[in-house]
Amino acid sequence: MKPHTLTVDLRNRTVTRRGTDAESTLPFCSPEAFAWISDAWLQAGWDVKHVYSFTWLGRPIIQLPEDLLRLQEVIWNLQPDVIIETGVAHGGGLVFYASLCKIMGKGRVIGVDIEIRPHNRAAIKAHPLASLLTLIEASSVAPETVTKVKALIQPGERVLVLLDSNHSRDHVRAELEAYGPLVTPGSYIVATDGIMKDLVGAPRSHPDWAVNNPCTAATEFAQAHPEFMQAPPDWRFNESSGLTNNVTYWPGAWLRRLAV
Ligand SMILES: C[S@@+](CC[C@H](N)C(=O)[O-])C[C@H]1O[C@@H](n2cnc3c(N)ncnc32)[C@H](O)[C@@H]1O
Repeated sequence: MKPHTLTVDLRNRTVTRRGTDAESTLPFCSPEAFAWISDAWLQAGWDVKHVYSFTWLGRPIIQLPEDLLRLQEVIWNLQPDVIIETGVAHGGGLVFYASLCKIMGKGRVIGVDIEIRPHNRAAIKAHPLASLLTLIEASSVAPETVTKVKALIQPGERVLVLLDSNHSRDHVRAELEAYGPLVTPGSYIVATDGIMKDLVGAPRSHPDWAVNNPCTAATEFAQAHPEFMQAPPDWRFNESSGLTNNVTYWPGAWLRRLAV
């Protein structure tokens, strides 16, 4: 995203966006203005670490609530047997998926992290949903890790994969190659946090994020693997005034395995 100036005029209910060579003003009440404001809000949220302020059933979960709601829609629709997440941290993501499995009456969760801190492991093990969780402490891209994960999946099971560990392009690309084959047709592998591409210049960002990000890895993976389509899932309900796009930290994240 090119740097620009955004002016929100709540007196006249307009939004003006000024780039280096063009300026346009839209009514506040328009999907485009909402998208502009949302982009700015996402960036401001990054700077103040908004996503580091939520828990799910007692465990910190480092995700934007809208991304979790969209993920919930996919999980409910898909009814997976196995949900794999790379990048466990405090375990909030694992507990989120497990809570949906519990409600659906099916499914279990595998979490992979290079370092599961003892207090996080203890809290995850003590959680009421712990019986639905399997933890693997190892690098997500180590071949023996992938072998271990594969061994936990039975033939014919429906598998969904979330990638939320190291977000460098190379690491995510390696994860996509390793875990993509486990994804069943109609299901997804999700390369989270592609928002990095839009954050160059922000505090807690790096100049190479314009290309060194999960979104680039997902796009390259989709180009190399025509059996995967890079597109966000359809909304299950939409009575909004013309909205069609997620407000998300996960642009370009969703890779759906096409039915064969
Ligand atoms: C952003 S946090 C995960 C947040 C979590 N998914 C949630 O929803 O709350 C990233 C995690 O990835 C882990 N990680 C970093 N490199 C990794 C690797 N090579 N393999 C597995 N996990 C890794 C870190 O230890 C950290 O716990």
